[in-house]
Amino acid sequence: MAEDVFQKLADLQREIEGAQPETAEALEAFRIKYLGSKGLLKEVFRWIKDVPPEKKRDFGKQANALKQAAQAHYEALKSRIEAGRERETGLKGDLSAPGPPIPLGARHPLAIVTNRIIHIFTKLGFAIAEDREIEDDWHNFTAMNTPENHPARDMQDTYYLRDFPEMLLRTHTSSVQARTMTRQKPPIRIIAPGRVYRNETISARAHAQFHQVEGLYVDKNVSFADLKQTLFFFAREMYGEKTRIRLRPSYFPFTEPSAEMDVSCFICDAKGCNICKYTGWVEILGCGMVDPAVLENVGIDPDEYSGFAFGMGIERQAMLLYKINDIRLFFENDARFLKQFTSAF
Ligand code: PHE
Repeated sequence: MAEDVFQKLADLQREIEGAQPETAEALEAFRIKYLGSKGLLKEVFRWIKDVPPEKKRDFGKQANALKQAAQAHYEALKSRIEAGRERETGLKGDLSAPGPPIPLGARHPLAIVTNRIIHIFTKLGFAIAEDREIEDDWHNFTAMNTPENHPARDMQDTYYLRDFPEMLLRTHTSSVQARTMTRQKPPIRIIAPGRVYRNETISARAHAQFHQVEGLYVDKNVSFADLKQTLFFFAREMYGEKTRIRLRPSYFPFTEPSAEMDVSCFICDAKGCNICKYTGWVEILGCGMVDPAVLENVGIDPDEYSGFAFGMGIERQAMLLYKINDIRLFFENDARFLKQFTSAF
């Protein structure tokens, strides 16, 4: 019995030394068969129970020596195969080694701000609506009560598609208002985040592409007071509890009345700084009551329903919140800029 086991050990040794795998795959098969956690060399140490007590010590020594020899044989084979591969492919090193750790990325500041805005409005029951960036003239302008000769339609501002004169890159997310209202009957309560395009000269303040979040609420008896409360809630959630708002009369073709909303400057606490240009107020969005003409255009009866809408630039909010003074930074993908942002959102 004992002789058997010593014989088996010697056979195994011969087998291992004779093995000459030539490829990385064959070498791995060798490793698994002999040196792996369920390999034969583990098995060998179980044979020890068949060895008579006086020979156990001897057997243990030989088994250990075999294990070491097998390991050395494996290492030698491995360097030979690697050297061969290096000669053939020019690739150096152990290709089966784990790669260098992949650094964890940070969310883009525009994504962080968009998610914050979405989070605030979803608390109020707004649903997210997304739609196309390549839009037709009707949804971007006509339905939104923007007359044919309105300056916003000018070729100067709008990117039209060369071969499709009715098609354009949407100039605002208000097109999603038209899309949603033609598809869905009130009550409608949506926010629409997305990218928009304008033919602007790129500078620290302006870019040809940027992002907006649109808000739209249409139902029976929606009033200006609802608009004001909604935006006041948003302003406090976004810019801090102490934030005050003010609405200044303004003009948009698709809202009547229209307003621009300012928040009290959260940077200087409305004392006056260069962000608020020493006025204590910063402008953050445009808004108003949905013009009855818009409701008519999309097939909603303005005698039965009313609504409010608002739209804000996301870059603008991000620039204010993070005190970023150049809009181009958002689109340059410079890791030194991007990795400064971290957020749970
Ligand atoms: N669409 C307007 C803009 O791009 C913003 C806006 C949206 C104003 C909704 C009023 C209502 O400037």
